[in-house]
Amino acid sequence: MKYMGSKRLMLKNGLGKLIKKEIVDSNRFFDAFTGSGIVAAHVAENYEVHVKAFDLQLFSTIVSNAIISRDEEIEWQPVWNQWEKRAKEIKRHYRIPSTKKITQRVVDDCRNWAARQNELPITKAYGGHYFSPLQTVWIDALRTTLPKDKTIRTVALSALIQAASQCAASPGHTAQPFQPTKTAKPYLAEAWKKDIPHVTKNIFSSLATRSAKKKGVAEVADANKIASRLKENDLVFIDPPYSGVHYSRFYHVLETIARGKCGDVSGVGRYPDPKLRPRSKYSIISESQTALDELLKKISSRKAKAILTYPDHQCSNGLSGEIVRETAEKYFSIKEQSVESKFSSLGGRSNGDQNAAGRDARRNANELILLLKPKKV
Ligand SMILES: C[S@@+](CC[C@H](N)C(=O)[O-])C[C@H]1O[C@@H](n2cnc3c(N)ncnc32)[C@H](O)[C@@H]1O
Repeated sequence: MKYMGSKRLMLKNGLGKLIKKEIVDSNRFFDAFTGSGIVAAHVAENYEVHVKAFDLQLFSTIVSNAIISRDEEIEWQPVWNQWEKRAKEIKRHYRIPSTKKITQRVVDDCRNWAARQNELPITKAYGGHYFSPLQTVWIDALRTTLPKDKTIRTVALSALIQAASQCAASPGHTAQPFQPTKTAKPYLAEAWKKDIPHVTKNIFSSLATRSAKKKGVAEVADANKIASRLKENDLVFIDPPYSGVHYSRFYHVLETIARGKCGDVSGVGRYPDPKLRPRSKYSIISESQTALDELLKKISSRKAKAILTYPDHQCSNGLSGEIVRETAEKYFSIKEQSVESKFSSLGGRSNGDQNAAGRDARRNANELILLLKPKKV
């Protein structure tokens, strides 16, 4: 799944090797800011340790749990056949507007039609914006007919969330959809053609064959709170936000699919009520340093080891590689590596200016990997 700050590439570029070395004497692995869940899944699939993953966003924990909470494969084909059949049954009740030729008028008609679908929450909020009406009706239909079995349901919901992320008519996140302007229309048309059930089925089948060596769990929780559950011989992975804009601004569509509803939305970005969008101290300039200090202090007091990654430059949330290093030195002995990393600075401006974010959306920069061992007293 495309995710701001994903450690997918870094796992092959230094981080994977360091985890392999340090996991040997660890009883448990805590992924404190799990995001796309890629690091938690990597550890769960490769090592006999209990993995615990945390994030403020529900969809992150669903995507993580789809792999880390299961130690057996799922026989996916019969489950998919039944699930698709139930969803088709719902879909056939709707006369969905055609989007063969995309014009401003067609888009307006789609939006007006979607806004009237009170019993289809995803369609009402996002139809004609991030998705075509046909796509959102499929998302609603698949969301309401998820398999009943708890474990399989999580895998199915994760597949649907990831399919929505792949198909959304927006640039890699869902802060603003493409509009039918001269330049963006081809992107909108391409995205709206994507086949939601087909993409969901592919992701579901591939997730079904993956599982953990030992069952773990992902929970919605604040990293600073769960740090007090740590013990000696635990290994914690710390990958906090670097943006002064909350993650929930970029991922509200996925969060809505995870929750199944979002109420009224507003603005071009179709944002749900702020109460439904998690806020992080790590994305508030005046609070990020204190939050990091508190977290590292707690981890060291529990005598746990940690691996921390952070961009080695000034970030829009007020933290920088230098500040992170200095804070960590207060509580730990540090071993440092630096790797070249292509990372996203979407939302790099604290005012959330999309154009500004777009201009320097991807750049090469160094990212620190710090191994933190509690100081001997
Ligand atoms: C840089 S991303 C992590 C990326 C992740 N390591 C990956 O590879 O996909 C930071 C994540 O921290 C989450 N987050 C922000 N504040 C948090 C907090 N106080 N506790 C737990 N998670 C938090 C955000 O929702 C976001 O998913």
